[in-house]
Amino acid sequence: TKAVTIPSLNAMRASGAKITMLTCYDASFATLMDRCGVEVLLIGDSLGMVCNGHQSTLPVTVAEIAYHTAAVARGNKSAMVLADMPFGSYGTPEAAFNNAVQLMQAGAHMVKLEGGAWLAETIRFLTDRAVPVCAHLGLTPQSVHQLGGYKVQGKSIESAAQLKADSLVLEAAGAAIVLFEAIPSALGKELTEALKVPTIGIGAGPDCSGQVLVMHDILGVFPGRKARFVKNFMDGQTSIDAAVSAYVSAVKDGSFPAVEHCF
Ligand code: KIV
Ligand code: NA
Repeated sequence: TKAVTIPSLNAMRASGAKITMLTCYDASFATLMDRCGVEVLLIGDSLGMVCNGHQSTLPVTVAEIAYHTAAVARGNKSAMVLADMPFGSYGTPEAAFNNAVQLMQAGAHMVKLEGGAWLAETIRFLTDRAVPVCAHLGLTPQSVHQLGGYKVQGKSIESAAQLKADSLVLEAAGAAIVLFEAIPSALGKELTEALKVPTIGIGAGPDCSGQVLVMHDILGVFPGRKARFVKNFMDGQTSIDAAVSAYVSAVKDGSFPAVEHCF
């Protein structure tokens, strides 16, 4: 299969072909997911919770993301490798660039940052220096102590308008992908229509250009509270290969997310 690139993701958005993304933290799962046709492998800072047992993503370091990114890159052939920039690693454009270089040299093709319009300068700084960026808005788990918990965002008219304004500013600053977490489906549709770049949703409704979930969640492994947007794709399957393929098929044919996974 051909390598997944920013142009190929843009072409998928243009044709309406749904993009599949899963979190991935090691070489063996990278090989498996790539073989199953997952387009983007995300080394999420969720690894702090699902791999390392932390209560939030805040303790995760650049070195930890780089270690897992290198492992994923070794196992991967064709997928795009997207690495999270952890909490505190992008406070200034210069710091963001220095840390992004660590992740790109570990094998990332793109980095992901959480936040709104305040990130525009940083995204411009990174993209000017050949670091592609995915912007993550809506429920941004690194801000859990400001948000007061893992809550659905963009429910009021004002916060929805803010999300739209932020997304457009970050796209204009050079973001290649915009990811929305835990927002109403109607807003996910409106934001996707307002943007030109591909949008990826997790609890953002069926109308985003693609979907992402945490691999432990689709395999029914994570022992924590199950979010509304999670589906266990091991149900009815007898192998991890079959479960990952079922996730890919369900996103591609539009059967996931269903109404019960949405806000
Ligand atoms: O860290 C992560 O797993 C993420 C996804 C849930 C989008 O950022
Ligand atoms: Na993350």
